[in-house]
Amino acid sequence: KFLTAAALALSVSAGAVAAACDDGEIVIKFSHVTNTDKHPKGIAATLLETRVNEEMNGKACMEVFPNSTLYNDDQVLEALLQGDVQLAAPSLSKFEQFTKKFRIFDLPFMFKNINAVDEFQNSETGQAMKESMTRRGLLGLAFWHNGMKQMSANKPLLSPSDAAGLKFRVQNSDVLKAQMAAMGGSPQPMAFSEVYGALQTGVVDGQENTWSNIYGRKFFEVQDGVTETNHGIIDYMLVTSTDWIESLDADVRDQFLTIVSEVTEARNSESSKVNAEAKQAIIDAGGVVRELTAEQRQEWVDVMKPVWDEFNADVGQENIDAAQAINA
Ligand code: LMR
Repeated sequence: KFLTAAALALSVSAGAVAAACDDGEIVIKFSHVTNTDKHPKGIAATLLETRVNEEMNGKACMEVFPNSTLYNDDQVLEALLQGDVQLAAPSLSKFEQFTKKFRIFDLPFMFKNINAVDEFQNSETGQAMKESMTRRGLLGLAFWHNGMKQMSANKPLLSPSDAAGLKFRVQNSDVLKAQMAAMGGSPQPMAFSEVYGALQTGVVDGQENTWSNIYGRKFFEVQDGVTETNHGIIDYMLVTSTDWIESLDADVRDQFLTIVSEVTEARNSESSKVNAEAKQAIIDAGGVVRELTAEQRQEWVDVMKPVWDEFNADVGQENIDAAQAINA
């Protein structure tokens, strides 16, 4: 009896792993690092999975692995190139080893909101970025939005001088390291999945992220509060390998890319709303949110914006000008 139950349990769990995929279907594994609820990327990934599995049933089958359960962002691009996964959507800050062009998205106060980011990405320059890594084997399929970044720490942050001497977790990006250094903070690059523990144990004092990430990973629970700085952005590139996309039959590829672009359009237009809901959920859960006066915000601008000069050559003055023209 025991053996039967054990065998049954085993086959049920094995079945759960292989869930939707039938023999002969192209398996599309999509690994990402965020939660799935109240999160622009999480929701978009789930919608993509649902649509592919419904509309391409018999031809293709998608499995999404959220919450860094398969890979973190440092590993996933390598896994794509190895063919271990077929899709990923790392933040644009995570492409440092492949291109320096994306640094424009990390420069503080470069874009006034996500609509400005959207417009820049839809320009000729932005669209060309999707193909800027094909020689390295990566192809961008779409930009996916998250939102504006906020700053949190284990003490109130109102003036940038409040950040002096604090350790801040950053994504592994030279621009973000320079930004934290400009504030007098000490940047500590670290994988997203490790941030909660590092904040909780005091390995770092603070971090920057969007409302949906601060809510989704519960950073607000282990911080004094979150200051609404809107000082930068987190956005993603949905990316695949050139080998994989070229291996698909034209009709399968077209159907897949059509679904990708429809999901992108549907979910990008909702990203600000999703972040506003996450912000409210933080407040409802007792998290402290601090707003800045116009004068206080200007102090952050004055301290952070000089960082642009360090990266001018990487991102191109003409692109900075184009981004600023969109803001105007
Ligand atoms: C981070 O590492 O903080 C973010 O890029 C995580 C994410 O995917 O939003």
